[in-house]
Amino acid sequence: MYTNKQRQVYHCIGLMFFLSVVMFTIIQIEHISIQKVSEPERIERQTRMEKEIDLQNKSTHPISVNFSTEIMQRMELLAEHPKESTTWDIISSNCSASLSFLSTEWFTSLNSDFKQFLLYRHCRYFPILMNHPVKCAGDVDLLMVIKSVITQYDRREVIRQTWGKEQTINGKNIKILFLLGTSSNEGERANHQKLLEYENYIYQDILQWDFMDSFFNLTLKEIHFLKWFSMYCGNTSYIFKGDDDVFVNVPNILEYLEASKDTKDLFVGNVLFKAYPIRNKMSKYYIPEVLYEKNYYPPYAGGGGFLMNGPLARKLYGACETLELYPIDDVFLGMCLEVLQVKPVQHNAFKTFGIVRNENSKMNREPCFFRDMIVVHKLLPPDLINMWSLIYSDLDCSKKI
Ligand SMILES: *[C@@H]1O[C@H](CO)[C@@H](O)[C@H](O)[C@H]1NC(C)=O
Ligand SMILES: *[C@@H]1O[C@H](CO)[C@@H](O)[C@H](O)[C@H]1NC(C)=O
Ligand SMILES: *[C@@H]1O[C@H](CO)[C@@H](O)[C@H](O)[C@H]1NC(C)=O
Ligand SMILES: *[C@@H]1O[C@H](CO)[C@@H](O)[C@H](O)[C@H]1NC(C)=O
Ligand SMILES: *[C@@H]1O[C@H](CO)[C@@H](O)[C@H](O)[C@H]1NC(C)=O
Repeated sequence: MYTNKQRQVYHCIGLMFFLSVVMFTIIQIEHISIQKVSEPERIERQTRMEKEIDLQNKSTHPISVNFSTEIMQRMELLAEHPKESTTWDIISSNCSASLSFLSTEWFTSLNSDFKQFLLYRHCRYFPILMNHPVKCAGDVDLLMVIKSVITQYDRREVIRQTWGKEQTINGKNIKILFLLGTSSNEGERANHQKLLEYENYIYQDILQWDFMDSFFNLTLKEIHFLKWFSMYCGNTSYIFKGDDDVFVNVPNILEYLEASKDTKDLFVGNVLFKAYPIRNKMSKYYIPEVLYEKNYYPPYAGGGGFLMNGPLARKLYGACETLELYPIDDVFLGMCLEVLQVKPVQHNAFKTFGIVRNENSKMNREPCFFRDMIVVHKLLPPDLINMWSLIYSDLDCSKKI
């Protein structure tokens, strides 16, 4: 027979066992039901559970160990904002040419750039060579991303000195990044890559990916940026994306954005409606029917400079993922917008086509014109510097031009 003392001890052990089974069950149930609740509720619950587990830890309850590590892991997955540890997840450039249409008749009639594009069309993502994971940290109102190539350092330099300055205007935080691929030419790669690294070391404003910078690879630049933005810029409000040979009026952008605060899917630029693919085989931009069969492109904004908001950019990343790459970057983005059923908005302050064709046009050299614009294409470094100093001199624009 048991003594009283022994009986007490067994009672105690029995009770503890019962309690731990109950606790285990409760946690298990909560654990399962977690999958069915909404996101905020889920986070709230997990925080609560973590606290419970913490308490159990203190009483060195044996079943707590597994759950606490598992929950910690889930919490990390749930964290809404990107962590410092977020890394570009593509590590290999190894993608071989697809030879399936080499023997087709239409393929042999294409020019070599086009052939190159088609052979590598399925290679979507490449490793990142220069990254700035914390560029968007905190509170960025306007991120300006500029397409550039290694050799055009003079354009980048002048942009940094003029409209591309990282600064805060009326409390709006502005950042800049240049988007680059690698050089297509071996000599350039050897000589310029080191200079680029130094430039990036000084200015901390270059994103570079390991794909060849060529006209038909601009679409790669587009999707790499959208992916990058979705990974690192969860809190960024607006994006200006453009070329490195344009004039940009940042105060006008800010004014426009202030007035469009309530626009949900903001996408504005110099929009072409009903542009058509070029069917002349002699043209550099000839598009065979097998590549694009419709007569018209969806509406798209000229890639020289346009504005979009952060939430839309994140949606565009997903939308573009559903499409095969198209060799013209701004048309491709128009196709992604079409997937989302978002219509790009035309605005006359974006002049990304055609200004320069008429050499004698007053628009080419008239500072009062530039002062009222948002983007003007095209202005190379010496002209940009001149125009910049004219606009910010005591400019009298009351006279009719
Ligand atoms: C809980 O216990 C585990 C394992 O013993 C330990 O790794 C963890 O740091 C403890 N957590 C707390 C908050 O004490
Ligand atoms: C605890 O974790 C280990 C390793 O992660 C696993 O093998 C084991 O089944 C877990 N135990 C429980 C009760 O979940
Ligand atoms: C590239 O990938 C192919 C097959 O996936 C493999 O056979 C080849 O060795 C790889 N080359 C390099 C340089 O990694
Ligand atoms: C996101 O932006 C808001 C203001 O727009 C700011 O208060 C907040 O700290 C930012 N959050 C992060 C994680 O940067
Ligand atoms: C685009 O870049 C990839 C990777 O460097 C290259 O293999 C491909 O030939 C390029 N395509 C064009 C059209 O230049």
